[in-house]
Amino acid sequence: MPMKKRQLGPCVTFFPQPTTLIGTVDPEGRVDLMTASWAGIVSKTPPTMAVSLNKSRLSYDNIRRTGCFTVNCVPSGLAVEADYCGIRSGRDRDKTAVTGLELDQAEQVDAPLVRACPLNVECRVTGEVELGDYRLILGEILQIHAVEEAFDEVGGIEPQAFDPLVYLGGIRQYWSLGGHIADAYRDGLALEKNGEDQG
Ligand SMILES: Cc1cc2nc3c(=O)[nH]c(=O)nc-3n(C[C@H](O)[C@H](O)[C@H](O)COP(=O)(O)O)c2cc1C
Repeated sequence: MPMKKRQLGPCVTFFPQPTTLIGTVDPEGRVDLMTASWAGIVSKTPPTMAVSLNKSRLSYDNIRRTGCFTVNCVPSGLAVEADYCGIRSGRDRDKTAVTGLELDQAEQVDAPLVRACPLNVECRVTGEVELGDYRLILGEILQIHAVEEAFDEVGGIEPQAFDPLVYLGGIRQYWSLGGHIADAYRDGLALEKNGEDQG
């Protein structure tokens, strides 16, 4: 049976998206946290993240002034706090005071790390692309902090320790991650005759 499809037209319905908190400071050192789901890794060499911010965001102004930001991966237990940081602007509210989210000092940049987020990425701005009302900010990754309990004795990583909050853009819902399905860069090779990596 072919999958019957409905056309949604040009819109922003796309799954899954990460839920991140972008950490910045203003010139007076006041911190701001903003929720962003349009964020991701876009290059390995140099390691680079891109975040797309509406130019009206306080976070965008802060990034323009300081040239840096952090990207904090939100765990499923912080859905309400992250949602709040996506509804209110730091221009009107002290979002860290309202949410109670605690912060740590970053190592390489002048921007806060969210302590309760198990993965924090420190970025220095390397480029900006204008996209209508949005600005795609490119940030070279200078440091990543990953929660210690994610590592087993042999250096393997336990994904459950990150428990990322998944955002379903377009229908505006938060979900948690499902289970482990397969291994990347390996299990696809089972479709070739001899099952070996030819590339
Ligand atoms: C789930 C979610 C995802 C969001 N993703 C983005 C995004 O990727 N880019 C953006 O500009 N705004 C995004 N927003 C909206 C901003 O977080 C929101 O406008 C916030 O108030 C801006 O805060 P600021 O003015 O303190 O920077 C998102 C909001 C939610 C709830």
